[in-house]
Amino acid sequence: MKSILLAGGTGSRLFPVTLGVSKQLLPVYDKPMVYYPLSVLMLAGIREILLISTPEDIKQYERLLGDGSQWGITILYKIQPEPKGLAEAFLLGEEFIGQDSVCLILGDNIFYGLDFSSQLEAVVERTHMGAQATIFGYSVKDPQRYGVIEFDETGKAISISEKPETPKSDQAVVGLYFYPNEVVAIAKTIQPSARGELEISSVNQHFLKEGKLQVETLDRGFAWLDTGTHESLLEAGQFIETIEKRQGLKIGCLEEVAYEKGYITKVQLLENAQSLQGSSYGDYLIARYG
Ligand code: DAU
Repeated sequence: MKSILLAGGTGSRLFPVTLGVSKQLLPVYDKPMVYYPLSVLMLAGIREILLISTPEDIKQYERLLGDGSQWGITILYKIQPEPKGLAEAFLLGEEFIGQDSVCLILGDNIFYGLDFSSQLEAVVERTHMGAQATIFGYSVKDPQRYGVIEFDETGKAISISEKPETPKSDQAVVGLYFYPNEVVAIAKTIQPSARGELEISSVNQHFLKEGKLQVETLDRGFAWLDTGTHESLLEAGQFIETIEKRQGLKIGCLEEVAYEKGYITKVQLLENAQSLQGSSYGDYLIARYG
């Protein structure tokens, strides 16, 4: 399975902070925001990644993440000339996806929960084997800000709508999506919405209508964190800080994930760590694995 990590957009809700720097490069406590979704992909066993960002910002991502070999993965880059919507990722990524299935993850989404990686590994396997797409629902108090799933009385999903004024449930669609290869052809048929974007919710609605959409729920013990406003960005950082300080373990530490998954050796991990020595991130790796 391939993956596309979307790290473009204007970040306008965080102006003026994002006038000079891409939103997904902002710090969430002790590491750049994009490390968190990247770690989710690595934990799911996905090692071929296309990062999409704006013409202005793409160089900064290349500088930060390189070709991914330091974590035993491959990262390629693609420019999105204008933010025309999430579903454009499949058009920009068509050649990269080839005949494979694909996962899309948003660079500003943070996930934290028990057994999430085994849940994802199972979804990767299922997507690879069949023609089903998978999205995840999460209960929120402000569903009108998101894609929203409507369910019938038996709990079956019956519609997906983007930022509805009157949400049909409190289940928001999180920014992590798994699709069979067919998604590329479907994305080509999607028309821009009233706000002029190729909506991911239109893609999901298409799979749903064809009976090819699995909806998994992330339950109340799970944290899906928002970074869309100044407050939520600060709170996300505080959440990570609280857990990391309490446990003495890091969340979204790419060297650690790469080593634990067997993508790199301990020697490689320590080489990476040496270059980060003096920061709490580098010192953590040296103390834990040195
Ligand atoms: O976070 C989950 C939500 O993400 C879903 O519930 C919604 O269904 C989905 O449409 C999306 O809603 P947002 O309002 O959060 O989308 P936003 O425009 O903020 O874009 C999400 C991320 O993708 C953001 O980091 C910027 C990036 N992006 C966005 C667009 C429109 C791109 O890289 N390119 C784009 O063209």
